[in-house]
Amino acid sequence: MTNAEWGEVDRYLVDTLVGDADSEVFQENSAAGLPAIDVSPAQGKFLHLIARSIGARRALEFGTLGGYSTLWLARAVGPEGRVVTFEYEPRHAEVARKNLDRKGVGERVDIRVGAALDNLPALAEEQPEPFDLVFIDADKVNNSNYVQWALRLTRPGSVLIIDNVVRHGAIVDPDPSEASARASRDVLELLAAEPRLDASAVQTVGEKGWDGFAYALVTG
Ligand code: SAH
Ligand code: DHB
Ligand code: MG
Repeated sequence: MTNAEWGEVDRYLVDTLVGDADSEVFQENSAAGLPAIDVSPAQGKFLHLIARSIGARRALEFGTLGGYSTLWLARAVGPEGRVVTFEYEPRHAEVARKNLDRKGVGERVDIRVGAALDNLPALAEEQPEPFDLVFIDADKVNNSNYVQWALRLTRPGSVLIIDNVVRHGAIVDPDPSEASARASRDVLELLAAEPRLDASAVQTVGEKGWDGFAYALVTG
């Protein structure tokens, strides 16, 4: 389900509040054949503002694609900050690397190519400083695994944001056929059950249709 007015309102919001300085990232992604499933500009800036609001210096991302959300995070953490981002597809990672270098934030971004679950143990062994913000936006079926790992890699006060938890409303089907909708229900139930997290979720409409994101605070 989508609605032409949602897109029109998104364009108005982006023109008014975001501008389109990074539209060449979308052009590069499209030229390289990447799917247009990046966060929208309004969502990207929202993520960036959350990161700045909590003074995030270290961000962890699941799902780089062409680096559009990564770019917003990299700008938020500042020149001394760091973004670690997991990407399964080498081709996506290559496009992201070019986009981020061209935008002047490449040095802040560590792209780890491969399945996130394969690369997480090595990251944990490095005993990195806790991440302040985790953005989960990769293969939805692993969302619960990513939240469990995020708990190991964060501290009380850190924030987890999970994209695409509403899936055009598919999550209210108690036995959703779409594996990703099932996974969204599972991760929302995990957020509710996990005593170290306090969470909410917000539905969104816009140029990407009807979806939503979850926001969780690490409390302990
Ligand atoms: N966050 C990006 C969009 C990510 S799209 C943005 O808003 O700009 C989802 C990405 O996750 C795709 O590039 C896909 O290749 C990647 N992905 C899928 N499975 C993965 C896995 N197991 N580990 C890491 N990345 C994965
Ligand atoms: C899809 C993935 C996303 O991360 C997103 O924001 C929108 C769509 C997808 O796989 O269809
Ligand atoms: Mg997404």
